[in-house]
Amino acid sequence: MSQAFAPSERWNALRERGLHVDFPCFLAPMVGLSHTALRQTVSAYVPQGRTNLLFTEMLSSRRLPTERIGDRPETAFVDHETLVPQLLANEERFIEASLHKLERMRPAAIDINMGCPVSQALKHNWGVALMGDPAYAEQVVRLTVKHSPWPVSVKLRTGLSDDPEYLVDFARMLEAAGAAWLTIHPRIAAQGRRGTPRWEYIARVRDAVRVPVVGNGDVQTAADALTLLRETGCDGVMIGRASVARPWIHWQIAEALGLPPPAGRDGDVAPADGFAEGAEYARALGNFIDVCERTFTTDDAIKRLKFFVHWGGRWLDFGHELWRRMTNVRGLDEARIVTSDFFAVPQRMSARTTLAS
Ligand SMILES: Cc1cc2nc3c(=O)[nH]c(=O)nc-3n(C[C@H](O)[C@H](O)[C@H](O)COP(=O)(O)O)c2cc1C
Repeated sequence: MSQAFAPSERWNALRERGLHVDFPCFLAPMVGLSHTALRQTVSAYVPQGRTNLLFTEMLSSRRLPTERIGDRPETAFVDHETLVPQLLANEERFIEASLHKLERMRPAAIDINMGCPVSQALKHNWGVALMGDPAYAEQVVRLTVKHSPWPVSVKLRTGLSDDPEYLVDFARMLEAAGAAWLTIHPRIAAQGRRGTPRWEYIARVRDAVRVPVVGNGDVQTAADALTLLRETGCDGVMIGRASVARPWIHWQIAEALGLPPPAGRDGDVAPADGFAEGAEYARALGNFIDVCERTFTTDDAIKRLKFFVHWGGRWLDFGHELWRRMTNVRGLDEARIVTSDFFAVPQRMSARTTLAS
């Protein structure tokens, strides 16, 4: 099993292009969540000396060219992040200008969003809309590769309909157009994040292309991640909602694979039961609040703190109560008091939730 997390040859091939990945357990792009405070919180659980990839939330190529990187919470970053900014894009002049802007973040790679199903994305003919128009999608990848000094990946869904043959052909097309790796979230557009993702489609894509394939969808525990790797043979896992709920899932996976603990946690073991996870949640939340305070204005910090607890707190038995209390805080010191009061009573976390959107 530890084989799965050794950098597969597929990743090694990208080393020549400056992309070094030896812990292919990635933070998913998530609007309102995958900002630097979550990225730094997750990074605190990556095994020491290993490199994963941290996606930003999707960034509009219509907006990036007009703004200064770091002015908005969505583009704030710190130097040691191994970043993959994700672009919503479809026109050359905006792609070129956006890539130019993103230089400041010193990205490890760029990702093109071909999965966003919201009506706004469909209207702009980007996000998952590109999956309905392979010729156009191919052009978007070619144009991005042409202007990008960094490897270009694509995150996609099954497509607009449940047709694995179409997905496989589409994936082959993306590879031929120059995509450096593919992340598959195997649900159709109309599903959003509902229904069971068809992990078997990840395996089919993996067999059909030579670039690395990353699997995504409903990984809630370290055991899920290991199952996804084993059953599909994929080259890495991308974790979204569970990275918000239990950012230490990255440590739990690393530990299961025999990798070292994160920096500063020598001698510790990854939280293994519900109450240990509850205690770790308090610690991660404290870290998250500290980073928010260092990075964002108070209003921006509180907004993101509430969203973090809204999405991640559901795994706590009484997460709704933590969220209720957090919705009333007006400052970060108050948030710290809420945290210490709430966790003064040991809290239990479940391994799973229904993952309702
Ligand atoms: C609040 C939220 C925002 C999201 N925003 C994005 C996004 O900006 N780009 C993207 O490709 N996927 C986005 N997603 C989808 C996730 O990246 C991921 O594909 C999905 O949640 C399934 O993975 P998970 O089960 O590990 O959460 C978002 C998901 C959530 C919950």
